[in-house]
Amino acid sequence: MTYRYNTSRIYYLDKQDEIKFEVGDIVRKRVQEAPSNGYKIIAVDDEEGIIDSLSIFLKRSGYNFTGVTDPLEAIERVKNEHFDMMILDFIMSPIHGDQVVEEIRKFNKELYILLLTGHKDLAPPLETIRRLDIQGYCEKSDKFDQLLLLIESGIKSIEQMNEIKRMNDELSDTYEKLEKAYLDSIETLRYTVEAKDPYTRGHSDRVAEYSVLIGEKLGLSEEDLRTLRIGGLFHDIGKIGIPDSILLKESKLSDDEYSQIKNHPTIGAHILQNATIFQDILPIVKHHHERYDGNGYPSRLKGEEIPYFARIAAVADTFDAMTSKRTYRNAIPIEEVKEEIKRCEGTQFDPSIAETFLEILNTQYEKIQEIQEKY
Ligand SMILES: [Fe+2]
Repeated sequence: MTYRYNTSRIYYLDKQDEIKFEVGDIVRKRVQEAPSNGYKIIAVDDEEGIIDSLSIFLKRSGYNFTGVTDPLEAIERVKNEHFDMMILDFIMSPIHGDQVVEEIRKFNKELYILLLTGHKDLAPPLETIRRLDIQGYCEKSDKFDQLLLLIESGIKSIEQMNEIKRMNDELSDTYEKLEKAYLDSIETLRYTVEAKDPYTRGHSDRVAEYSVLIGEKLGLSEEDLRTLRIGGLFHDIGKIGIPDSILLKESKLSDDEYSQIKNHPTIGAHILQNATIFQDILPIVKHHHERYDGNGYPSRLKGEEIPYFARIAAVADTFDAMTSKRTYRNAIPIEEVKEEIKRCEGTQFDPSIAETFLEILNTQYEKIQEIQEKY
């Protein structure tokens, strides 16, 4: 069968086997190649005759054609070059077509693959074709019609896939731009708060980084770490709504003034609530002053009712408050800070998060110092 396929196409100028390469060369020279349609096809068949046939036929149809007789070389080519489609013989040596696909699928899931089979009996089972994500297969015959139809419909699928990919890229591009614009505007708000409250300057950055350190120690995902970082950056954004006379007061606050300060988590959550893309950080902004024993604000949530990320931010926030110099006191020495964190386990802090942070302080203190020096 295979042989007939060879003879009928390769040697149609002269059917004598002995002069096949010479004839092949003549054929190659005589073929008028159509202008390239830009699609790159690689064909793999250990019989050179088939490669020559396909080369003539596909170049004439305008495809950018590469023919390879060694299946192992084909795997390397696909690794290093872009191809839109692969036409692959099934029975080859040293490895069969299904093994070639198996290798290629380890690093390339997108290549559109058509399998050429010598004879129905030699075709791989349907389940193999499905498992390896082979898009089509075609029995070798002395006519190219069926193969050409398969290639054409394959190219249409590739076009659609490329279009979907392009739209996806555009969408994620737009999403990124939106996210950036939003971050920028919140950042401006943050700078406004920091401009009027010297204590907040640097504080949010440090809380963000301490929270990420805790999150890393807890083995959280990249996405969770991102939420912790952004949540830390904006956790005090609601201070924008607190009058300067209270925010900047150096003497003791009256009860009324203190209760106004306590509004900042709710104000912050209100500012952010309409931005769907940052819903994840809302719990941090709103609940970073809750206490594990239920005596915090604004919602007096208790224990695990307090959102997990807010419990993390609470430890980071308090640590930074204790280790920052305030107008009315110096920074508290680190050993005292550790004792205080230990003492507040289960009352102010989630005990397991506080323990995690103490472990960081005991074993990775240089990272904490780096953050303190940076901001
Ligand atoms: Fe706060």
